[in-house]
Amino acid sequence: MEIKYIKTAQFPCLSYRIGGIGPVLVLIHGFPEDSEIWHLVWSKLSEKYTLVMPDLPGSGESKYEGELSIEVMADSVKAVLDNEGMDSAVIAGHSMGGYTAIAMAECYPSVFKGLSFVHSFAIADSEEKKATRRKSIALINKGGKDAFIRQMVPGLFAPSFREKSPEIIELQVKRGMEVPAESLTAFYNAMINRPDRTKTLSEAIFPVQWIVGEADIIATKELVLQQSKLANVNFVSVYPDCTHMCMLECPLQFIEDITAFTDYCYSK
Ligand code: MLT
Repeated sequence: MEIKYIKTAQFPCLSYRIGGIGPVLVLIHGFPEDSEIWHLVWSKLSEKYTLVMPDLPGSGESKYEGELSIEVMADSVKAVLDNEGMDSAVIAGHSMGGYTAIAMAECYPSVFKGLSFVHSFAIADSEEKKATRRKSIALINKGGKDAFIRQMVPGLFAPSFREKSPEIIELQVKRGMEVPAESLTAFYNAMINRPDRTKTLSEAIFPVQWIVGEADIIATKELVLQQSKLANVNFVSVYPDCTHMCMLECPLQFIEDITAFTDYCYSK
């Protein structure tokens, strides 16, 4: 995958990975990650699609200045597509990347051939979730970034996966610790402030995919399945052995499902 950099009036530096041939498939990473999170799936997917994998502002080598919002993150993905002259795409977002994708669908609906929520959904944070995030922000601001990451990242994976592949968890913990504290808190504030976007979902004129981890405690099966009936066309896959990280926990299943969805979207 080639790594490219752009500078726009809004963004001092945006980095993204791009490669492959065929219709455009955008993969947006979650928190606290960057585009490298897709490394187990990008080679196979790029045989069939032109893959675009942005680093959201504050992640990877993408920079931001001042406050961050999910809408600004959506603008950053649009800036990358504009830079490539791409006016339509299937857009998949993992967790925070899904919050970004649905914000993008609200602002730029005509770009979407399809939207895939990968362990994600369109609702806002509950008050309880906001309170938990605020506690984490306070911990990070007191210098507890590493403790926060060490506690948070393993919980994204199933216990059986943690036992089987401790090196993958360790790598993700290490990469999470490389994200600056200011970025982590800016992402959390952006997520706290995001509005409910179920209306955008119910108005979607493009197909929507839902990839659900049976044991996910963030995008829980219960919450995701409630929303998976809102759009006109919904593809739903529930992964029994997966928590929140299908691109690492069950990459082959993810490749199969995102391929089926993307092909469907481009056949319309
Ligand atoms: C993510 O994976 O992007 C985060 O866990 C999302 C969240 O905290 O809501």
